[in-house]
Amino acid sequence: MRNPLNQIAVKDRPNLYLIGFMGVGKSAVGRGVAKKLGLEFLDSDREIEIKEGRAISAIFAEEGEAAFRQMERRFMEEGHPKTSHVVSCGGGLPMGPGMTELLKSSGIVVCMFASAETILSRVAGNDKRPLLSVENPEERIRSLLAEREPVYMKTGIGVSADRRGLFDVIENVARVYVREAMNRRKGMIRKVKREDGNG
Ligand code: S3P
Repeated sequence: MRNPLNQIAVKDRPNLYLIGFMGVGKSAVGRGVAKKLGLEFLDSDREIEIKEGRAISAIFAEEGEAAFRQMERRFMEEGHPKTSHVVSCGGGLPMGPGMTELLKSSGIVVCMFASAETILSRVAGNDKRPLLSVENPEERIRSLLAEREPVYMKTGIGVSADRRGLFDVIENVARVYVREAMNRRKGMIRKVKREDGNG
């Protein structure tokens, strides 16, 4: 079957933003989706680390979380290309004031979900996430999830990443992207036609 996305030049394809909690698999899925759809892949954490020349954990330790959130905001506002990229976003990126709107106006947003148990099993033993370097990471995950889930939900189209294989999630996210990109295109064509009719 022909790929409907071919109707949109690669340079004009909207960005796809993957949001969701730490450990849901945004980066692995993002890479797979980018490859499948012929887009470039970016990771907000990685881009910030490159720009700053230090690890996220060092930024948290040296300047604190608020400074890191500002760096995420700058990344969203001016720190990445505006089209043809799949962007895996740090778990807290959508949380700041106005970030929901900024994400939505920047491209197609997909929110990946998993249960606290799945997340815990995926992040266990990884010391790269300063927010979970606490005595009781499970409790932390549950309280952060409760705070964040409503924001994730109103920002992105939900896709479950719980107990599903990587390939399956990639397929699902890619399908959502193609559907949304084609709907936008149709909307744009309708708008141009309306404007032509009035002119
Ligand atoms: C954070 C998530 C991390 C990273 C930082 C803070 C969060 O990214 O940005 O440690 O607040 O949820 P991942 O979601 O890619 O792990």
